[in-house]
Amino acid sequence: MKKRIISVENLSKTYGEGESAVTAIKEATFEIYAGETVALLGPSGSGKTTLITMIGCITEPSSGKLILDGELMYDQQWKISDTRRIRREKIGFIFQAHNLIPFLNVLENVTIVSQMNGVKKSEADKKAQELLDYLGVEDKLTKMPSQLSGGQSQRVAIARSLANNPKIILADEPTAALDGERALSVMQLLRKLAHEQEVAIVVVTHDERMLPLFDRILRVEDGVVKESI
Ligand SMILES: Nc1ncnc2c1ncn2[C@@H]1O[C@H](COP(=O)(O)OP(=O)(O)OP(=O)(O)O)[C@@H](O)[C@H]1O
Ligand SMILES: [Mg+2]
Repeated sequence: MKKRIISVENLSKTYGEGESAVTAIKEATFEIYAGETVALLGPSGSGKTTLITMIGCITEPSSGKLILDGELMYDQQWKISDTRRIRREKIGFIFQAHNLIPFLNVLENVTIVSQMNGVKKSEADKKAQELLDYLGVEDKLTKMPSQLSGGQSQRVAIARSLANNPKIILADEPTAALDGERALSVMQLLRKLAHEQEVAIVVVTHDERMLPLFDRILRVEDGVVKESI
């Protein structure tokens, strides 16, 4: 039996109030298991970023329930006092390229979260080097983000998202800035990670070519989330 890692129940989000209110997600209900790669697919403005940032405890839902790795996060209100702690401990985020910290080198970019979590520098460095090695950018340790190509930056961003051994990886169009071939190899890597390390991976994508690489597809249309077959 696979372990249930993300559990979303009737989760909704409305931005604003009264006449200007926009319901971005309407009563979404689904579950995601350890080792699964799930695509969130849908047109612009359909609610994908809203949904993935609610799962990541960045956007506060308006109603419903969210459970991550057995821990109740939200049930009509936040159930945890420190959402940042949850983000640091359970979740790795990957956003579009260029989100590395420009004044830190590659190694420092990857180790920063572990260091914030109180991991010893020598241990954090060792883990970061293993990850960068795994991702094929081990020769870039002391380079600055501005010295990397788009694909290399994205690999470093992935290494950083993995540095705290998260159970969940959330990615919002992680391959948008990459050409077709690099985009495919980044996705293949995420898939390998999910399967080898039992991480649950949710990826927002517009790119139909990536879809064969996912175990499941959730379609978001006008705030309504449906399992795609
Ligand atoms: N902070 C906000 N305040 C008000 N409305 C918002 C906010 N963020 C998003 N929205 C609205 O919620 C709806 C869903 O937006 P969201 O960003 O989740 O869509 P998306 O599917 O990620 O789109 P894209 O593919 O263009 O990134 C849109 O109508 C958007 O205008
Ligand atoms: Mg978006």
